[in-house]
Amino acid sequence: MAIQISPSILSADFAHLADEAAAVAHSADWLHVDVMDNHFVPNLTLGLPIVESLRKAAALPLDCHLMIEDPDRWAPAYAEVGAGSVTIHAEAASAPVRTLREIRRQGARAGLALNPATALESYADLLPEVDMMLLMTVEPGFGGQKFIDLVLPKIERARKLIDSSGAQVWLQVDGGVSAETIERAAAAGADVFVAGSAVYGADDPAAAVDALRAQAVK
Ligand code: DX5
Ligand code: ZN
Repeated sequence: MAIQISPSILSADFAHLADEAAAVAHSADWLHVDVMDNHFVPNLTLGLPIVESLRKAAALPLDCHLMIEDPDRWAPAYAEVGAGSVTIHAEAASAPVRTLREIRRQGARAGLALNPATALESYADLLPEVDMMLLMTVEPGFGGQKFIDLVLPKIERARKLIDSSGAQVWLQVDGGVSAETIERAAAAGADVFVAGSAVYGADDPAAAVDALRAQAVK
């Protein structure tokens, strides 16, 4: 299982996004972009115009995590402006199958995110429609929160579901991922790791990415 690291620019300096992206360009696999609308989550970040500019400025493919209401309306546009991956929240989508298909049709990988309290089993049948399942390991909205260990059994169940389905689905975790927590998330079966504060809170973000990867493959 190849390990991938997706640093979250939520913890970066928003006035210097291109430089912050460049800082991890040679060590990370993706750049995680948290889109928040102050409705689905109680925080507001950035939207399409910034994603479009960042796509041109950054060498890494963009992993857009949409924490917004009505992702059915907005998600395809993120794929259209060049995001490599677009993840919608199951709790917010009214027509997830249609939206996931539309993301793929626009040429991006389609992701489905579940909050800590959202049952995995309700979405198991959608696996053939997704390229990545994102299991939130914090309640979405803010960086720097503590990893919720209660999600570990869900990660294990998702790993089993994915393996038995035979589908090529990546299993991402997001929230509180650090050198201390990444090992147990990896042991439970996650293979794509989002890390905000653990990367951009470090003096050397590239070295922090390398350290996380080393911990995950232990
Ligand atoms: C939280 C966001 C995360 C956030 C993670 O709602 O989805 O991507 O940036 O930050 P850390 O790694 O600091 O928990
Ligand atoms: Zn995120």
